[in-house]
Parts: sequence; C-alpha cells; structure tokens
Amino acid sequence: MSRPLDARTVLLVIAGGIAAYKSLEVIRRLRDKGARVRCILTRGGAEFVTPMSVAALSGEKVYQELFSLTDEGEMGHIRLARDCDAVVVAPATADLMARMASGQADDLATAVLLATDKPVLTAPAMNVQMWQHPATRRNVATLRGDGVQMIGPAAGDLACGEVGPGRMVEPDEIVAAVEALLSDAAHTLSGKTALVTSGPTREAIDPVRYLGNFSSGKQGHAIAAALARRGARVVLVTGPTAEAAPAGVEVRRVETGREMLDACRTALPADIAVFAAAVADWRPERPAAGKLKKSGQGAQGVSLALIQNPDILGTLAQAGPARPSLVVGFAAETESDAARLIERAAHKRASKNADWIVANDVSPGTGVLGGGRNTVHIVTAAGAESWPTLDKTQVADRLAERIATAIAEKDAARGAPAA
Ligand code: C5P
Repeated sequence: MSRPLDARTVLLVIAGGIAAYKSLEVIRRLRDKGARVRCILTRGGAEFVTPMSVAALSGEKVYQELFSLTDEGEMGHIRLARDCDAVVVAPATADLMARMASGQADDLATAVLLATDKPVLTAPAMNVQMWQHPATRRNVATLRGDGVQMIGPAAGDLACGEVGPGRMVEPDEIVAAVEALLSDAAHTLSGKTALVTSGPTREAIDPVRYLGNFSSGKQGHAIAAALARRGARVVLVTGPTAEAAPAGVEVRRVETGREMLDACRTALPADIAVFAAAVADWRPERPAAGKLKKSGQGAQGVSLALIQNPDILGTLAQAGPARPSLVVGFAAETESDAARLIERAAHKRASKNADWIVANDVSPGTGVLGGGRNTVHIVTAAGAESWPTLDKTQVADRLAERIATAIAEKDAARGAPAA
C-alpha cells in the first residue's frame, strides 16, 4: 500500500530545546508515512537527545559538524541542503531563528538552512517571554517574509514552569504540516501572486470610538494560508482581528477602509485577488477631534452623519492593466433563501466586475460571523455551485484548489507555461 510520504526525503534539524525529545517521535512518524529522514543535530540539540537515539530512529547517519572532513567527503552541506524535499526545524529555538533571520551560516544547521532551495517548516519552542520578546517578533516576521513556514507554538504549560505560547506543537501536527507541504497540490500556484483582504475595518467616530462589525477574519486568513500552501506569494491585507498571521504569508495590517484600499493598491500587481474583508460601507463624515461628551449632546441622543467608503473590490476589479486576472469577491447577506442569495450575488458579480462571488448567509442563527464553519455558494459566469457546510479552512482549501485550476486554464489559454 502506498504511503503519503513515499519517496520523499525530509531533512530534520533538531536544535537545543527540551522539546527535542518530541523530535524523536517526529522521526518515527515521518518514517511510518514513508519518508526518508536525515537529521542534523545542533550542539544544543545534542545536549537534549543523543546522536545514537537519532541515528537509531532515523536509520541514517546523523550530521553534526560543518567542518567535518568525512561529512564533506560523503555529503557536503550543499548537497545535504538540496538532496531533500523539505527542511523541518523542530524544535526551532529563539537563537536558531535569530541566526536564520540574519542569514548566518556558522554551523551546519544554519549553513544548510541558508543553502537550501527547498521549503522550510519551523516548529518554534521556547519560553513564553522569549517568544513574545520584540526581537523574536522581528525575527519571526523576517522569516515569514522570507517564505519560511511556521507551525505553532502552542499555548500551555511550559517546561520552565511558566504558562503561555511557547510549546512545540505535537509530532502528529508537524507530520501533517509536512504532508501538506509536500502534497501534489503544494506547487500548483508557484510563481503566482495573490492579494487577500480579511477581517473588519474600523471607522473612527472620535478618538476612542469606532464603527466596526463582527467579522473575525477567520475565512480570509484561511484563504490566504491555503493559497500560500499551494506556492503562491500571498499578501494579506487585514483589518484588526485576533487571528494569527498564517504561515508563509506577508501580512499588512490596517484599520480603516481607506487604509485597506491603499494597502491593496500597493500590493498590486497580483495574479489573484480575493476580497474577503467586511469593509465598512460607510464612515463618519467628520470624526470628532476630541472624545464626544454625554453632556451637551442633549437627551435626544446624537446623530452621526455618514459618508460612503470606497468600494475596494468594485474599484480594483475594474478593467485595466493592474486588474488581477482572477478577482473573487464575497457577498455576505442576511438571506436564508439560497435562490435569492445567489441571485443577489450574481447581481453583485456583474455590478462589481468580479469574476466570482462567494455568497454566504450571515444571519445571526447561522453562526457564520465569528464561527468556524461556513455554507457558501460560488457564483461564476457559468452559474452557481452550492457547497455543503464546511469548516472555514475546508472552504478555503476548496476555493484555493478551484482558483489554481482556473489560473492554470487561463495560462493554458494564453499559451503560458504551467506553474
Ligand atoms: O457590496 P458588498 O459590501 O456586499 O460587497 C461585498 C464584497 O465587496 C466583498 O468581497 C467585500 O470584501 C467587498 N467590499 C469592498 N469594499 C467595500 C465594501 C465591500 O472591497 N467598501
């Protein structure tokens, strides 16, 4: 029976953290899935697990030194970096990530990470303060910008006795991420660029109040992640959300609809644009310079004069050289009748010049706004297609798959080489 990672080679870098003991399990599970696993054990890593255990579990020689004549004779660091399908760093310590982010190459692990042309997945593990330190935040952002994928850390009890984010994710999650990274779908959007908007916007009423909405950003963030997993370079322009930045995605944070439009314009050109953000349609015409006071407004309450915000989708989908070749909009409606929802989405598709509209019912009873699941209808020039209720991540995966197929068809029609 074939296994998901048959004929794949994973280069596993084990750095010096207590979570290194879990890496032994990662080796075993990757091998169970059919992968060949070669390991680099850093000096710190060897303080936590022995080369003997790593060699026994991987069934391979363990690589430890950059300047080892036998290693360089048998397999130099450049070949080690290239003769694999993916590099996994687990645990990725704060120190190793800092050295990766600054492009150092003063030991075997960093030299290989600098020399590799393969996808790199890191599973950070460290003390919560170290993870939250601005220096680590900068390094994480740099690595993400460099296309390094990141899984975790998870929150919970840490070996040091503190509590918070810092635990390395469990071995089966790392193995699942490797499978996703190496799946056949992983490269269908290589060389393509995508712009995704997500989350709500905030429009100031005065310095302390705003008009906003209940959008969580879950769907938009999941779409950005799904496109990135297929190899696209993704810029995610997001309003304020609690969602973590997805692996391998460049995130630009904004507050208002006008800032979102500017950030989207800056992100163009792109091959694909997915506008999943719930942008405020109106904003207060004249936000007050100081906090509005209860007194002086009268017992009758206050009225806010609102003016229309720019329509980002409607603006960027207009024909022109900067128009992405596939533009996908969303239509969130409080409309439980599927036929009427689709009809409105079809109208929106035409009026905004979008290629597709993903329509969903966001009535309070559906739990879609802020929830984890979604029921969508995909409205295209060819008609409408209704999907079953799925997790937002599954909706994102299916949508990314469909986008990859459409882009491949467009490329084929233009006679361009496939990704
Ligand atoms: O017109 P409506 O707001 O229903 O359209 C929804 C679609 O338009 C979504 O894709 C949303 O992201 C986008 N939109 C936008 N800018 C706005 C309002 C909506 O990009 N100001």
